[in-house]
Amino acid sequence: VREDSSLDFSTRYATASYSECLRVGGPLIQPKAVEFAERHGLKFTIARCCSQGGTLAGPVESRFESVDPAPAPISVVLGGLGTVGLGVFRWFKSLPDEFRIVGVLVKDLSKDRPEDVPLHLVTDSLDVLLEARPDLVIETIGGTGTAADLVHRARSAGCRVVSANKQLLAIEPELLKEASFGRDRLVASASVGGSVPALETVGGLVAREEIVTIKGILNGTCNFILDRVNAGVSFEAALSQAQELGLAEADPHLDISGLDCVYKLSLLATRAFGELVTVDRITCEGLDQITAERLQKAKDNDGELKLVASAWKTPNGIVARVGLEIILPHQLLFGCTKEANRLVIETEGHRQVVVNGKGAGRWPTTVSVVSDALLCRRAELSVGNIRESERAKAS
Ligand code: NDP
Ligand code: HSE
Repeated sequence: VREDSSLDFSTRYATASYSECLRVGGPLIQPKAVEFAERHGLKFTIARCCSQGGTLAGPVESRFESVDPAPAPISVVLGGLGTVGLGVFRWFKSLPDEFRIVGVLVKDLSKDRPEDVPLHLVTDSLDVLLEARPDLVIETIGGTGTAADLVHRARSAGCRVVSANKQLLAIEPELLKEASFGRDRLVASASVGGSVPALETVGGLVAREEIVTIKGILNGTCNFILDRVNAGVSFEAALSQAQELGLAEADPHLDISGLDCVYKLSLLATRAFGELVTVDRITCEGLDQITAERLQKAKDNDGELKLVASAWKTPNGIVARVGLEIILPHQLLFGCTKEANRLVIETEGHRQVVVNGKGAGRWPTTVSVVSDALLCRRAELSVGNIRESERAKAS
């Protein structure tokens, strides 16, 4: 606290003892957690989300350090302001120190927008949008028209890109490769599994061991419809509900036909097996193949009819398919309801890893997009820091 009673944010605890944490950190750190750490002699770091450093707490003396002023927010343009785009726009309002939205691209300028969207940011011109020279472009438009133009132009201009558009990423081999094997120039966690860390988990696992099979429920809309149909609701009514909930694609045929799952499987299998598993290598059956007999057969076996995406290694290469399957109670995919997604990954050592969560809808997807954006921001700042230190050395 400065002499004039204002707070001095340029100094912080570099280290803090357990007793200091308990004395000053009550509202910030759970006293029970500090006491637990003290009993076990554990060290931990306390840091604000996105901060470049933090306070090391543990069996140490308390010490202060001065810190550099916080870096400026990175500039972002947002393509799309629909189910996902508006979620991202709103979440970013709570992260003003990290992101500054400098433009939003929409299709129809005459549409009413929510009051919290400043209209001076909104444009229907890609040229105008990119004149803002953003650090980061977030694409939540969907499809392969304007979305593709935006992604390509952004990449050519050196911007980092976050995209939730599995269709675009899967059908363009260059993008598929970059989204699967690149690090932080094109990030697409939100394109598979909504809030489920599907691509991230596959990526983390494959760095350590060989993956032999991936199998999952990857389309929230289809899973939701199957659930409702099983409960006696008509297919059409179930689809309308999925659309009202913001789960379905703008063109729901992509969900129903199984194609959305094919795109997601292409991304997952490419990352899991280290080779391009393009969409033409994946066989596909969709919900149009549901029959009363198949539903009844599932019931008779105490099972559930599900749309399942699988890919596995064989001596002759990767086999990948999307199709309807009866899942029995002993199987790990059993009991995945509503718009949930679930992925089971099996490694060569017969280890099975399961990730599960909400697979579609505004907030589950927004969480994933924001997390990708934070990753890009960290990468952008570390490049900036390297440039700064090179400049300092040179001078
Ligand atoms: P929406 O249809 O709700 O929103 C699309 C937005 O993009 C709208 O704001 C629309 O503008 C804008 N847009 C569409 N076409 C153009 C164009 N030609 N030029 C400029 N802007 C355009 O889609 P979602 O938010 O549901 O999905 C967006 C992306 O996220 C898709 O790739 C989808 O696959 C993916 N995704 C969606 C999930 C979900 O649960 N909904 C989950 C995971 C990924 P306007 O407002 O003027 O119509
Ligand atoms: N339409 C997609 C689904 C959105 O229902 O799974 C999430 O990718």
